[in-house]
Amino acid sequence: MIRQFCDIHGTAEIGEGTEIWNYVSVCAGAKLGTSVVVGSSCWIGKGTVIGNNSRLQTGVFLPNNSILGENVFCGPHVIATDDKYPRVGNHDYNAQPPNLKSNCSLGASAVILPGITVGEFAVVGAGAVVTHDVEPHTIVVGSPAIPISAMQSPSDREMLKRWYQTIQESRI
Ligand SMILES: CC(C)(COP(=O)(O)OP(=O)(O)OC[C@H]1O[C@@H](n2cnc3c(N)ncnc32)[C@H](O)[C@@H]1OP(=O)(O)O)[C@@H](O)C(=O)NCCC(=O)NCCS
Repeated sequence: MIRQFCDIHGTAEIGEGTEIWNYVSVCAGAKLGTSVVVGSSCWIGKGTVIGNNSRLQTGVFLPNNSILGENVFCGPHVIATDDKYPRVGNHDYNAQPPNLKSNCSLGASAVILPGITVGEFAVVGAGAVVTHDVEPHTIVVGSPAIPISAMQSPSDREMLKRWYQTIQESRI
């Protein structure tokens, strides 16, 4: 279902059961799989491919040619970038879209810098700025984002435990 005030390009492909909320832009050549949910005010760049059952919450920005696997979760206002050195009027930039592998989860307002791959089942903490690839089954937090296993406090460890449980379950 596509709700009101969306701008869906005629060449975009929308899979069966995919739901697109209000004020979403889906640019030319984008391909959305089946049962995807796209929250309001998302931007899905040209040629972007989104795998089945992925979730984009409100305000997610995906630049041109982003690749998302299946069951990818993007929390509200996740921003993926593709231009490392943005300048007004530079249309020849070296575009480096993100590659978000199946079953990874990105917390609210995470920022993914150009050319980053987030591995399968990896978790990116809310507000993280991801400057390096994230290995599969790894949790990263902070700015720049680092693997959470580098964190030492008891509360970090408690959080770690909960996240790891989630990840272990998701391996089944
Ligand atoms: C700030 C920026 C220009 C730096 O580029 P750079 O000078 O080539 O820097 P590098 O990639 O060599 O990174 C240098 C260090 O800074 C860190 N770093 C880079 N950008 C960072 C950012 N935005 N926030 C926090 N840390 C950052 C890197 O992790 C690296 O540290 P490390 O080696 O200890 O891991 C670039 O990373 C950036 O943020 N560009 C803006 C992208 C954007 O928003 N585009 C607009 C939308 S498409």
